[in-house]
Amino acid sequence: MKETVAIAHPNFALVKYWGKKDSNQNRPAMSSISVTVDSMISKTKIFKNIQSNHHQLFINGKEESDLSKILPPLEYLSEFSGTDEYLVIESQNNFPTSSGLASSASGIASFVTAYEAHYNLCLDINHKVEASMLGSGSAPRSLIGGFVFMDHKDNYRCSQILKEPEWPLDVLICIASKEPKKISSREGMRASKKTSPIYQDWLDINHKHIDLALNAIKTKNMAALENVAEENCKLMHEVMKTSIPSISYMTDVTYSCLSEIENLRSLGHKLLYTIDAGPQVKIICDPTSSEIIKNRIIETTDVIDIIHAGIGGPPEIINES
Ligand code: PMV
Repeated sequence: MKETVAIAHPNFALVKYWGKKDSNQNRPAMSSISVTVDSMISKTKIFKNIQSNHHQLFINGKEESDLSKILPPLEYLSEFSGTDEYLVIESQNNFPTSSGLASSASGIASFVTAYEAHYNLCLDINHKVEASMLGSGSAPRSLIGGFVFMDHKDNYRCSQILKEPEWPLDVLICIASKEPKKISSREGMRASKKTSPIYQDWLDINHKHIDLALNAIKTKNMAALENVAEENCKLMHEVMKTSIPSISYMTDVTYSCLSEIENLRSLGHKLLYTIDAGPQVKIICDPTSSEIIKNRIIETTDVIDIIHAGIGGPPEIINES
């Protein structure tokens, strides 16, 4: 029986989206800029389901009853394949799932990539963006490697700002907790859009942050990227905090990590941090500083683990079952 396996990497945003234009189609209300992370991997295998007459999704070996993120992309793609066969989808992550590490982005991007290859669809990038976005607003960015711009004003076109080898930086993912998050991004975004008094300011500043970050990445200006990425991250967490009910994904471990980052910065290390819908702190730094940064954070904080990665590439089909 034909099986197709694809891998994709998670991405994290330096200019973030938090808030949907419309919940039905899952479209972000703003543009975003991300970086793809290499050593973290979602691997998804698909094959025809001959045992039951519904789709089945397994994540890390466990069957999921909630198919709400995978069915919309699957139904969109089946318009192109013209098939009504049921699938078994087996997805595995080599990193903690649902804890603010973008596992749904890489999971969905690997699924879309596997599906396209399985049915020989040769889709253009815009159709793959559309399919992935139906599952997760950040998933389309995982279809591309390096630094990625998702432009909400141009129908969510995703384009590469720099290829992964063009600016060889290191990525350190500081794991503050492996627990799944208590409030999903979807729920949190809904609350923020409805209730945060600074949600409009957040929307209004997006364009400025995008321009600053695009420029900083194109000119490989670490200090400029640090300024805009950290300002953007702080503002997103302020939007979360000022929502009703107030949302906070950060923990004491997150805060201790941030204070160690300030110490490292005062010692002259070049680094920037960002935090998403989870307590993990993601650092981008010059490779010459990464060992020192890693050791200092492990020694001085309660961070459980640090994943040392580089900038990642696009999804790939892999020849194994
Ligand atoms: O991909 P989603 O729809 O679960 O949302 C991700 C939102 C953030 O990670 C917080 C920000 C971003 O742009 O990735």
